Amino acid sequence: MASLTFSLCLLLATALAVCAEQERFDGFQLLFVYSRNLDDVKFLHQIGEDYVDIDFWREATPENNATIMVPPTLLNVFKYKLDQQGISYTIMVNDVQKIVEAGSARTPDEEVARKRELTGAKVDHYNYHTYNQIVNYLNELKNAYPARIQLSNLNYITYEGRIVYLVKMTGSAGSNKPAIIVETGIHAREWITPATSLWVMEKLARDYNANDANARMMLDKYDWYFIPVTNPDGYDHTHSTNRMWRKNKRYISARCTGIDLNRNFDAMWGTTGISTNCASDIYPGTGPFSEPETANIRDLFESIYSNVVAYLSVHSYSQFLLVPWGYTEYVSRPANAAELDRVTLKMLQTLIATHGTQYYHGTAWQLLNYAASGAAEDWALTRKAGLYGMCYELRPRYDDPRGFILPANEIIGTAEEFYASIVVMAAEMRV
Ligand SMILES: *[C@@H]1O[C@H](CO)[C@@H](O)[C@H](O)[C@H]1NC(C)=O
Ligand SMILES: [Zn+2]
Repeated sequence: MASLTFSLCLLLATALAVCAEQERFDGFQLLFVYSRNLDDVKFLHQIGEDYVDIDFWREATPENNATIMVPPTLLNVFKYKLDQQGISYTIMVNDVQKIVEAGSARTPDEEVARKRELTGAKVDHYNYHTYNQIVNYLNELKNAYPARIQLSNLNYITYEGRIVYLVKMTGSAGSNKPAIIVETGIHAREWITPATSLWVMEKLARDYNANDANARMMLDKYDWYFIPVTNPDGYDHTHSTNRMWRKNKRYISARCTGIDLNRNFDAMWGTTGISTNCASDIYPGTGPFSEPETANIRDLFESIYSNVVAYLSVHSYSQFLLVPWGYTEYVSRPANAAELDRVTLKMLQTLIATHGTQYYHGTAWQLLNYAASGAAEDWALTRKAGLYGMCYELRPRYDDPRGFILPANEIIGTAEEFYASIVVMAAEMRV
């Protein structure tokens, strides 16, 4: 993306300096761009195809604002084209680098130590972590709660050779319990989602052992399958090189790297909400399940097919609780829509009530006039009728200029409201 880079050197305790070239976002602007109608949407979509370095944080949809990050080299041409088309915009952020820096501020060690001592937490929930650090924490959680947590590897390693870990959580023994899959971190830059997963897993294990009624209900009634970092190559890349990376890291050609994993599932694959340009952030790959990361989820799902009752695909940002179908360019609902809405609307209430965070509920088309094919929860519900399939877009709200760069001091609040909603889900589902 950017040609400007700088050396980020992390001094380790061993005084070894590890330096990586980090993309910078100096002078990148974040624009709020209003589409009056479908013509404007098509116009913006074409710009996205022609200039892959223009990053659509949120897609253009009719009578709505797209959130678009533009590098300084393309600002003039982009604004000129908007003016020509008569499209209006406002500048949300003048210098994205400042947002990135504010969002990567670390909570001081002493403060983290003090807070962890208060709560007895194994995991530092006051900072975001690298993939390797998350793997360390998963092992610590497993060691601390061996009866609650089983840690294993999914079938396929990634393009760059990383392992995708699966965390199975359970309470009382017993086979054939209904199962719930919680997938986070499929989009690399959505850091709040693996962080939420870590907090929720630790909360469940600790509360269960402390005889908390909610945790007991959740783990005794169900087996939970967490995939905390579904896309470890992409996630690692957001730490080492480019904070704004979304896709996996499959090499395609000199100008193209990465598949959008949440367009790669077998749900009307390759139809809506995609680009056939391999450099695009919404390139769906060459066919359904072409990628190890999505094939991992398919194989897990098939291996527990008769038990699985719910599939949660967790993303950021916008504060949405999305229900299927997501792939159609009109409102179309699955056969179990009434039951799905009964439960998810109760979940919505608690998402809002926990901290007063305004979440919104609906299909992607209802909320956004946007459809996207090949998404995980659509596939899960296609594969198994009656399933509780849903997609979260966590904090911040859709019009918040921080977008993917949510400061770490919002991890716990975000995770608490998410947790409250899955307590309701576990209590309400009819299985
Ligand atoms: C789009 O953004 C403009 C400028 O910030 C705002 O006035 C308008 O209300 C927004 N429209 C929608 C539909 O969000
Ligand atoms: Zn996402």
